[in-house]
Amino acid sequence: MNIVVTREELAQLAPVTGSTAVVMTMGALHAGHAHLIDVARGYVGDAGRIIVTIFVNPLQFGAGEDFDIYPRTLDDDVQLCQQHGADVVFAPSVSEVYADAATRDDIASGVSIVAGPLGDILEGASRPGHFSGVLTVVAKLFHLTRANFGLFGEKDYQQLVLIRSMVQALNFPVRVIGVPTVREPDGLALSSRNRYLSVDGRHLAAAIPAAMQRGLEVAHEGASSVELTVRQNLESIGLQPDYVVVTGTDLRSAPPQGQGRLLVAVKIESTRLLDNMPVSLGEPA
Ligand code: PAJ
Repeated sequence: MNIVVTREELAQLAPVTGSTAVVMTMGALHAGHAHLIDVARGYVGDAGRIIVTIFVNPLQFGAGEDFDIYPRTLDDDVQLCQQHGADVVFAPSVSEVYADAATRDDIASGVSIVAGPLGDILEGASRPGHFSGVLTVVAKLFHLTRANFGLFGEKDYQQLVLIRSMVQALNFPVRVIGVPTVREPDGLALSSRNRYLSVDGRHLAAAIPAAMQRGLEVAHEGASSVELTVRQNLESIGLQPDYVVVTGTDLRSAPPQGQGRLLVAVKIESTRLLDNMPVSLGEPA
């Protein structure tokens, strides 16, 4: 496995006979990320190349968010990539990605991708500018890696929908693959931020997927019943969700019947936890 840190080194890797897949991450890798690498191999085959990018992107963090304390565990991350058969790890510095922009303000005042209205709802409502920051770095990493496939987790569903929209709207020559969420045995979605939780907080966090499951049980009654059930379940144990929403699979209004998405954000201690699940609306239980 090659570990490269500059754009130059990345560009000079030996040409590959098969296709290239990129798995973009911010590091602090866990079994969810590992699963993306495993799935990527199925798309590129043995002759292809899997590039894992590890970059904590300052542009997608707001003032007062966790950029400075975000876990950085490069040695462990490299080991996980190796164990899962990645071919290349690209772990650039901030200046390598953002060239001559010296500060976060410089970067933010430069050229960037605008996420549009879908970037301002849900996560975007509490993290203004977050998705423009995400899309800008994702666009850059697609170009730098020249990937044919990009694998992203459904765990960050809004991010996945927006990346698909960008790729379509701006004709990126890449296929975006969405990968289902990997969960702990108690149902909690794996996340690099779970490590911020105390033992009690971690225990409480399992109530989020459990409440969502209760909601799915009333999906035949429609989107509002699902939302109400999930909210009541969370509130009954003292959790105040930031949002509990059922949308269409494209994040627009939920259809009365058919496939939708249940999305939840809850703060436990000072950590914002996200989860989402597919929901079949208006169909008999
Ligand atoms: P990060 O949070 O490190 O996630 C990297 C990728 O792993 C994303 O596609 C995310 O959806 C996926 N992922 C995280 N937890 C998962 C889980 N439990 N199951 C399956 N996949 C999971 O998302 C980002 O980084 C950044 O925004 C990034 C796209 C790298 C741009 O900076």
